[in-house]
Amino acid sequence: MMKEYAPACDRNSRVILDILKPILARSRCVLEIGSGTGQHAVYFAEGLPHLQWQPSNKESLGSINAWREASQLQNISPAISLDLLSPVDEQLSSLTDVDAMVCINTIHIMAWQGTEKLFELASEILPIGGVIYVYGPYRYSDQPLEPSNESFDLWLKNRDQASGIRDFDVVNCLAKQAGFELQGDIAMPANNRSIWWQKT
Ligand SMILES: C[S@@+](CC[C@H](N)C(=O)[O-])C[C@H]1O[C@@H](n2cnc3c(N)ncnc32)[C@H](O)[C@@H]1O
Repeated sequence: MMKEYAPACDRNSRVILDILKPILARSRCVLEIGSGTGQHAVYFAEGLPHLQWQPSNKESLGSINAWREASQLQNISPAISLDLLSPVDEQLSSLTDVDAMVCINTIHIMAWQGTEKLFELASEILPIGGVIYVYGPYRYSDQPLEPSNESFDLWLKNRDQASGIRDFDVVNCLAKQAGFELQGDIAMPANNRSIWWQKT
């Protein structure tokens, strides 16, 4: 399988890594949900050599594993198949060491039940103090959606009615219900956000 390439990863990898460094400073094993091409997995594993990176995806694990093999990094595990809209229980036995989760540009792609499952899974597998980090565009109740994100949301919904940019308040409420406390929410380039919570 060939390495697939997403230009957006070239644009956002460095700025995301800068945010992740302090957030994951004390983590040892990170589960990435929706790893896409695998570019982020390689970039972050290289930039965070103290931890083990476990990529996962709903489909096309081939590209992630091609990036992994080409990198020759020891701290990326082979990608695992993980679809948040299917029962994931059988995967849990291989995730016992995970103490942080990262989910980039995936919450607005999946149907809402995928985000519910994301926090359910985080609650189940992360230890107290474990971190979940998400990156992507969000709606805020006190401000209009940026024009670029308004168009993106329309494009998403035309493609799949169940997808779309989520409300920060609703996601934060879901996180709280799952036992997580908001630690940070900061603006990123291109009207994206970095948001993270810690399990209490
Ligand atoms: C826009 S891509 C983002 C990929 C990568 N994180 C990045 O930022 O380049 C969305 C990702 O979500 C994954 N995805 C979609 N539905 C999913 C689901 N139900 N469970 C897990 N991952 C899913 C896709 O396979 C894809 O890798």
